Amino acid sequence: MDLLDPESISSFIDSRKDRSDIELEIGCGNGHFIATYAEKKPYSTIIGVEIKKKRCLKAMKKIEKRKLTNAFIVQERAEMVLKRLQDESIDIIHIYFPDPWPKTKHRKRRLVRMPVLAEFSRILKPGGRILLLTDFFDYFIQMKVLFSLHDDFEIIQDNLPEEVFLSIYASKFLSARRKIYSLTVSRKPVVDPIL
Ligand SMILES: C[S@@+](CC[C@H](N)C(=O)[O-])C[C@H]1O[C@@H](n2cnc3c(N)ncnc32)[C@H](O)[C@@H]1O
Repeated sequence: MDLLDPESISSFIDSRKDRSDIELEIGCGNGHFIATYAEKKPYSTIIGVEIKKKRCLKAMKKIEKRKLTNAFIVQERAEMVLKRLQDESIDIIHIYFPDPWPKTKHRKRRLVRMPVLAEFSRILKPGGRILLLTDFFDYFIQMKVLFSLHDDFEIIQDNLPEEVFLSIYASKFLSARRKIYSLTVSRKPVVDPIL
């Protein structure tokens, strides 16, 4: 199995959308979550997006070892991948422990920011969900405020989703009894202004 070609990701999704839900994991790291989750969700296609090549290769190894045919990895900046995706083509986006960029001067590098929310809104199907986890309180508040302010989203849950336990960072933080903040967000249905 090869890494997915970022340039043809949209046609790849097109080829699978009639037989499965389509899910993205942004920042899949070494693939602990995607490999375990994909095994539990045979009727979903899950695409891990990861910027670092070595981590992509480790994730691929896990997928191959389990002989999974529904999990794939693309090596690319998430922001570039999002731009290439078609409108309303994604069911679920998983974002677990995105880099927190704690210094004030680096905050603009965080993944969850308004222009990226606009892309999430465009590519998610109405009712589609985004599941987010972070151990960094300041980033959690930023996520919560941005999603609350955006007209297309509603926050549907603050509790930990079951999937949290599959992420390597989540299991490390949980065993160290470190606080984890979670957010589940839904893309609101599109309302026809004429009706
Ligand atoms: C803190 S790790 C979390 C890994 C995994 N999600 C987990 O919970 O165990 C963040 C990951 O996101 C990747 N990453 C950071 N910025 C990214 C971006 N813009 N696009 C894709 N991956 C990114 C990093 O290389 C790293 O592997």
